[in-house]
Amino acid sequence: MTESAERVPTRRLPIIAANDPSPLRPVGSIAGRQVLQVSDHEALFSNEELLQPTPGAWLPRIAGRTQYPMPDQVGRYGTYSEFVKAPKYMAQWVHWKTRTDLILEGRYHDVPPAHFEGIFTLVCNFMCPHCSRRVTRTKWVEGGTWEHNTEVEKKNTMDAHGLRRVIDQLGEHRADDQMGIVWGGGDPTANPYTYDGMRYARSKGITSSFLTNGVFLDSDECLDTDPILVRVSLNCGTEEAYRKFHGYPKGWDYFERAKQNMKDLARRKLQRGARTLVGISLIVDERNLDDVVAAAELIRDVVDAAGPGIDYVIARPVMNYQHFDQQWARLKEDTTRRALDLVTEGGEAWRIIDDLGIPLVLIKDSFDPPPEPDTYSDGSCLSYGLYGEIRHNGDIQLCSDSYGNPEYTIGNIFETSLEEIWRSDRRRAVLDQVNARECFKTTCPHNSRGHHHNRVFHQIEAYRKAGQMDVVRQWVDDLREVTYPLGHSFFV
Ligand SMILES: C[S@@+](CC[C@H](N)C(=O)[O-])C[C@H]1O[C@@H](n2cnc3c(N)ncnc32)[C@H](O)[C@@H]1O
Repeated sequence: MTESAERVPTRRLPIIAANDPSPLRPVGSIAGRQVLQVSDHEALFSNEELLQPTPGAWLPRIAGRTQYPMPDQVGRYGTYSEFVKAPKYMAQWVHWKTRTDLILEGRYHDVPPAHFEGIFTLVCNFMCPHCSRRVTRTKWVEGGTWEHNTEVEKKNTMDAHGLRRVIDQLGEHRADDQMGIVWGGGDPTANPYTYDGMRYARSKGITSSFLTNGVFLDSDECLDTDPILVRVSLNCGTEEAYRKFHGYPKGWDYFERAKQNMKDLARRKLQRGARTLVGISLIVDERNLDDVVAAAELIRDVVDAAGPGIDYVIARPVMNYQHFDQQWARLKEDTTRRALDLVTEGGEAWRIIDDLGIPLVLIKDSFDPPPEPDTYSDGSCLSYGLYGEIRHNGDIQLCSDSYGNPEYTIGNIFETSLEEIWRSDRRRAVLDQVNARECFKTTCPHNSRGHHHNRVFHQIEAYRKAGQMDVVRQWVDDLREVTYPLGHSFFV
């Protein structure tokens, strides 16, 4: 594909009319069931392993079924068109049989983790004022860094040997054929051992999701490791806004690099026929609201130059996390609504992305205000076991939504095996401590995976209390029937 290649829309989001029995064409089968094509991403179908661009992008249609289980509402059913519109990432867990059996038995503490966020380096070339890891990088760890391109050393980055030790242990904890690492940070490109680590993880059957600002991304090195997804945090479309939003000095060539690397990534993905999903992330507040359309135009430039190698765009507001020491996100009363106007159907940025045939994924909960604490029943966080976090020094966090807060540290993988940490008194004590302040109601980011699982698992517990677990079991079986396993635990 040359720089001036004609833009070819590759995918269409589903337009599914209610009662229309066949808006989608069959493209193959998984586990003996027909796969219907919701998107036109031909490249995906030529690979051995099929990857859905987003959870629920492909859905089986079951002959004779009229009622479909709603993935986020236990025991509730809707029509096929209601089901098609409902978020499907909440149906991933039912395909992990061992974990689901434990959840159905109420043994949440015994659930084996599905993935870990790997904060293997704190080093980053950016100093985004709003950085969700800002407190970790400045206060919560020894060796924290709040500078651009801090020198990589032991106190801020896990070395190659450490990474291998971690990966060996994670490899032993695969359950339901599932264990993953979200390579984050800092920026994973700052760690010279990242790509080797990802390659090694792949050899141990561990899946990877790679989140980067893209400025120092080496597309071929990265794609060599066969990650499930690579997501570039773009956020802006013009140099000045990009520089201010990401907090680096005037005169640096980071914006140009990010643009070039996105083109390389999209182009190399296509040339290599890689199954890796390429995503672009946009987070929005007052600082870049006026730049969102330019960001969409930039994505169009990338596709024009490189070909249709971008699989999805995800957009959400910048969050003011509970752990922030200041309101770093610049949100006015109507910022979220104005952002939504741009990125929902018909909006100016939406039109550009939609013309390219790229799914624009909005995380609904990120746009909604947090639910009232009394939305939840009392009791415990129930989702902490599914996703953990490992830090650069080997510390393991109770869950992946604690952003490095040391109060959530349950052990160190270089001192105690993961197996022992999982069964330790300390893990239980940390859980009791955070439950005592009801952190799952009050501090857990309301757009997080843990938060979503809690909502569902608490509904399950209400059915258990009412002696109606048969309703839950049927709903789980039905969800398994009407969704496909993703083959990984990541969202986008
Ligand atoms: C903390 S970064 C680390 C990985 C990598 N440096 C990157 O830029 O993707 C991970 C993701 O969190 C997002 N993020 C950071 N601070 C945020 C905030 N306050 N609200 C919402 N998302 C945030 C970033 O935009 C990025 O997509």
